[in-house]
Amino acid sequence: MRTLLRGVLAVGLLVPAMVASQEPQRDIYADPQNLQVLPKEISSRELSETMKGFALGLGVRCETCHMGVAGKPLTTFDFASDANPMKQKARVMIKMLDDINENYVGSLDDDSSEDHHLEVRCVTCHRGQAHPELIEDVMEEQLAHGGVDAAVSKYAELRERYYGSHTFDFSEMTLPMYAQGLAQQGNTEAALALLDINAGHFPESYYTRFLLGEVHAIAGNREQSLASFEKAIELNPRAAGFLQQRIETVKKKLPE
Ligand code: HEC
Ligand code: HEC
Repeated sequence: MRTLLRGVLAVGLLVPAMVASQEPQRDIYADPQNLQVLPKEISSRELSETMKGFALGLGVRCETCHMGVAGKPLTTFDFASDANPMKQKARVMIKMLDDINENYVGSLDDDSSEDHHLEVRCVTCHRGQAHPELIEDVMEEQLAHGGVDAAVSKYAELRERYYGSHTFDFSEMTLPMYAQGLAQQGNTEAALALLDINAGHFPESYYTRFLLGEVHAIAGNREQSLASFEKAIELNPRAAGFLQQRIETVKKKLPE
């Protein structure tokens, strides 16, 4: 297989101290006993870098997939064991990745430009989390099970923990786009709460103020709607004509 497990074998990866500090005395990668999907002739170094790539890509540690106790030396782990169900899930993923790179991404080749293709890797989807969710997925789940307050505090918690990493997108448009959908489904309470968070993080965001104006209007909050549109005009004077029309419409629809 020419493109054997490309993307999976993370050879050449620089290993940060965080992972390297787990390095044991004996070479635990030297003599693998139970490789079912990785190439059996894999070198100790390749296996080591592949495993560290998995751990970093998913933001987990060895014990997430292997049998061993957190904090204990890795020499005490039973890496050959299949008793941890996460290991089997990871095998499914390795095969999937190989298929994607070999038969899908790889098949885009028009000539011999193989080297120019990007490879899909674990981190391409996982971005430092075991369950590769988007912020919208997390909010959806929180709203369904904990309500608006739970969603608001979860957002703060995630932002505190992950801001600056690639795991979640905390940029200006994420919450507005999601809130728009919520408002369309009739959940104006949640939409307003998330837009308020966004207005706090992005005080210069015209679009957030504009949406606040729209959603407050749907919710029947005349004064807040008008104030939000006014603020939007301040932030983006070029849209003043359009926003003024929205203000007139709201004034008619929601009389004092
Ligand atoms: C996301 C899950 C996952 C993580 C995290 C992970 N591994 Fe693995 N590991 C696997 C899978 C799956 C295999 C078996 C691959 C196969 O069947 O070809 C494996 C195999 C191994 C083997 C070979 C065992 C044998 O005898 O066959 C060693 C050694 C190993 N891992 C060490 C580590 C170390 C050390 C870490 C932490 C730095 C780690 N792994 C993190 C999934 C993981
Ligand atoms: C194309 C996107 C994609 C790639 C690439 C990918 N994964 Fe996944 N992976 C997912 C998705 C989506 C899920 C969640 C499935 C679910 O549980 O609903 C998942 C789930 C998992 C799980 C189970 C997590 C849990 O909490 O149950 C493991 C382990 C895992 N992936 C390991 C890997 C490893 C190791 C690689 C690289 C060899 C990899 N994944 C590459 C998309 C991907």
